[in-house]
Amino acid sequence: MKAIILCAGKGTRLRPLTYTSAKHLIPIANKPVLFYGIEAIRDCGIKDIGLIIGETGEDIKEEIGNGAKWGVNISYIEQKEALGLAHAVVMARDFLGGDKFLMYLGDNLLKNGVKPYIRKCKEGDYNAFVLLTKVDNPRQFGIAELEDGKVVRVVEKPQKPASNLALIGVYLFDKNVHLAIDSIKPSARGELEITDAIQWLIDNGYKVGAEVIKGWWKDTGKPEDILEANRLILEDMERDISEAMVDESSQILGRVKIGKSTEIINSKILGPVIIGNKVRVIDSYIGPFTSLSDGVEIKKSEIEYSVVIEETKIENIRGRMQRCLIGKDVRIYHSKDLPLVYEFILGDHSKVGLL
Ligand code: G1P
Repeated sequence: MKAIILCAGKGTRLRPLTYTSAKHLIPIANKPVLFYGIEAIRDCGIKDIGLIIGETGEDIKEEIGNGAKWGVNISYIEQKEALGLAHAVVMARDFLGGDKFLMYLGDNLLKNGVKPYIRKCKEGDYNAFVLLTKVDNPRQFGIAELEDGKVVRVVEKPQKPASNLALIGVYLFDKNVHLAIDSIKPSARGELEITDAIQWLIDNGYKVGAEVIKGWWKDTGKPEDILEANRLILEDMERDISEAMVDESSQILGRVKIGKSTEIINSKILGPVIIGNKVRVIDSYIGPFTSLSDGVEIKKSEIEYSVVIEETKIENIRGRMQRCLIGKDVRIYHSKDLPLVYEFILGDHSKVGLL
C-alpha cells in the first residue's frame, strides 16, 4: 500500500502567515502540521509516500526532504492548479500505479492516527473506505449517509444534509477509483470532487465502507482551528523541563515541556504549555494552551491560549494576550517614550485587537 498527502492548497484563510510560509508547515505544539500526517502514515507501516505540492512546494521539499528522518521514501508530485482532490489523484497516477493507497489531506490532524482504520478496511475487503466524524455544520463538508453500516450516499457540501457525518480528510482506495475519477465531471465549484468519485463507486456496485472515528479530528484551515488543534495536542503532552534553566523566583506548574538553552526568569508558567529551544521568558506569565517556538522572547507580558512562531519578541504589553497566532520574527512592544502612540507595521490581512 502507498500513500499520498495533499499539500497543494495555498491556505488563503491563514493569511498573512501563508504569504511567507506554507500552511502545512505552520507549527502546532511546535511541530509542523504536516509532520503529524507523515507520522500517522509511517505508523501504519506504509513506506512510499507521495506529497502532492503546489505553489509552496519548494518550502515543503526543503523542510521534509526525502523522508529519511521518518524512515519513509517521499516522492514529490506537482499539482499546478487547484482543480480538486480527485484531480490530485490523477496527478499521482504514475506514482500510484495499480496499488491500493491511503489519501490524506495534509492539513488534517487525528488524535488516534489512522492505523486502526486501515485494518478495518483490509478486513472488509472494500474498494473504498472513508472515515467519518459528527459535525455541527454539515453544509461545510462532504456528508455520508449510512444504512446498516454501509455507505449508501455521499454528497459534497449539501444544502440539505441528510446526516451530520462528515467525511474527514482520510480515504482508502483500490485502483477502481481511477475509473471512477475518469467518469465524473467537475462540480459547480469547478473541481473534480473525490466525493463524486466515491458516489460513482457506490452507484456502480463497488464496496464502500466507513468508520466513525474515535477521538478528535481537526482540519487546520483557519486561525481558530490552529489554536484549537494546538490545545488538543497540548492536552496529551507530558511534563519535561529537565533541560530548562529556571531561576528560583519562577514557578512552573503542570504539564510544561521546555527545550534546550531556554531561560525562565521571574515568571510563572501554567501548563499545558510547550516552549522550544533558546527561548527567553522574563517577568512574564505564560498560561495554558500556549506554544512558543524556538528563539521567542517574552518580557513583562502575559499570554495564554496562543501560538507564537520563531524569533518573535513580545515586550511590556499591559493587557493579557489570548487567542493570538503570531508569525516569525514579529515585534510587539509598548512605547516607552513620549508621545505614547500606537505604531503599526502590519502586512496585508493582519488582524490586531486592542484593549
Ligand atoms: C474537503 C472535501 C470534503 C471533506 C473535507 C474535510 O473539503 O471535499 O468532502 O469533508 O475536505 O476537511 P474542502 O476542504 O476542499 O472544502
